[in-house]
Amino acid sequence: MSKKIITSRDIRKTAGYKPVIYIMRADSIKLLLLFFETRIGKPVMKDLLIKNIKKLIQIEDENIPFVSGSDMAHLPCIEDAYLWIKEDKIYRFGTMAEIDGEIFTPGVEVIDATGKLVMPAWCDSHTHLVYAKSRDVEYVDKIKGLSYEEIAKRGGGILNSAKLIKKASEEQLFEDAMARLEEIAKWGTGAVEIKSGYGLTTATELKMLRVIKRLKKESPLTIKSTFLGAHSIPLAYRGKQKKYVDLVVTEMLPAVAEEQLADYVDVFCDVGFFTVDDTDRILDAAARYGLAPKIHANELDYSGGIQIGVKYKALSVDHLEFTGDAEIKALKDSGTMPTILPGAAFFLNMAYAPARKMMEAGLPVALASDFNPGSSPSGNMQLVMAMGSILYRMLPEEVIHAVTKNTAYAMGVDKELGSICIGKKANVLITKEIPGIEYLPYAYGENKIETTILNGKIVCQNK
Ligand code: NIG
Ligand code: FE
Repeated sequence: MSKKIITSRDIRKTAGYKPVIYIMRADSIKLLLLFFETRIGKPVMKDLLIKNIKKLIQIEDENIPFVSGSDMAHLPCIEDAYLWIKEDKIYRFGTMAEIDGEIFTPGVEVIDATGKLVMPAWCDSHTHLVYAKSRDVEYVDKIKGLSYEEIAKRGGGILNSAKLIKKASEEQLFEDAMARLEEIAKWGTGAVEIKSGYGLTTATELKMLRVIKRLKKESPLTIKSTFLGAHSIPLAYRGKQKKYVDLVVTEMLPAVAEEQLADYVDVFCDVGFFTVDDTDRILDAAARYGLAPKIHANELDYSGGIQIGVKYKALSVDHLEFTGDAEIKALKDSGTMPTILPGAAFFLNMAYAPARKMMEAGLPVALASDFNPGSSPSGNMQLVMAMGSILYRMLPEEVIHAVTKNTAYAMGVDKELGSICIGKKANVLITKEIPGIEYLPYAYGENKIETTILNGKIVCQNK
């Protein structure tokens, strides 16, 4: 068997391409093809091969948009597996037995995951993580017994955040949000939806959305942005709510569309906030700009929010504490993802959305963080998983579907993320050595993630 040494200098002398010596079997066409495929004309980016994986979780041969009902209890996995990442994509996966000696190909960085689980990074389909300051003072009011609506009526709550964000510079908002993104990536989040909604004036809503646009460019996380001008009624518009809706429809929406600042539109359709009629007007106008809805619905009452969301083919309706038979019927076969936000219900001491009833009716369920300073000051999706399991009695398998595939769908990225599927973006997590998937929601205080890989690159490693 002949051996030949090829140096990268033989192929390319351009600066920026590392002169690495590869020893290759000259008779192996397969290896040679891999070599040329990955090296010629592209900056050096090593393939990543994760081997000896105890369990590779949430695999699929082809993309299924979401998982519903009783299927949520079944999680496709393989044991003693490998996962091969090329550039920023999932290239191959299977059992260790299938690859035999093939793993010692040139240009491949090998990670040994003995005793560890590997799975897609979480998709967090609902956050408000661009904000100016915490609202810990209101938190004390809450402990003393004031409700979310009472705090809002006094000009606290969302209006308080609106006051603070007005004064904050775009640079500061960007820096703070970037730090939050880094923090959630450590806990395993690889994709996140971020809403505006603390602006409540055209200028400040645009300011927030521009910050999100910059985050999209500069963060390794996959980000979707949502325009939420109808988050609360500013004090100046109290008693003339329709005028504020006019402003959203005739001034904010066209400006947002003009600068292409949003992927989706949101309305807080609930008692004390925006009515079904308001929501109807806003979603109708947004549809003309091609913005699909993802709305806040049925958090405080049977608001009609779910039904109006379904009418406009919302990607998701979120919160859902007040979901009865009529709402479940509306959601059935609608293509709208019911999304529960356990952090907000926990923090505000509310009744929990009927997750089990929804799944028994054949609906899919997604779980997101709602990361925001007022009702859910945490973007930790592992905690969300624990809450899903402890408070909503969801099985570990159901919880994993709810934070990967189903949230990927709820933020419109299911074709590129949410599962281990060949050709999807390599947003992948390696856990620490843990007993099994049950340990993920069980050990609610621990960070079980050791390595977060986004776009095929390791972005953080936890001790
Ligand atoms: O999703 N419910 C409405 N909006 C946010 C809360 C935002 C805030 O209080 O700052 C939520 O819980
Ligand atoms: Fe929210």
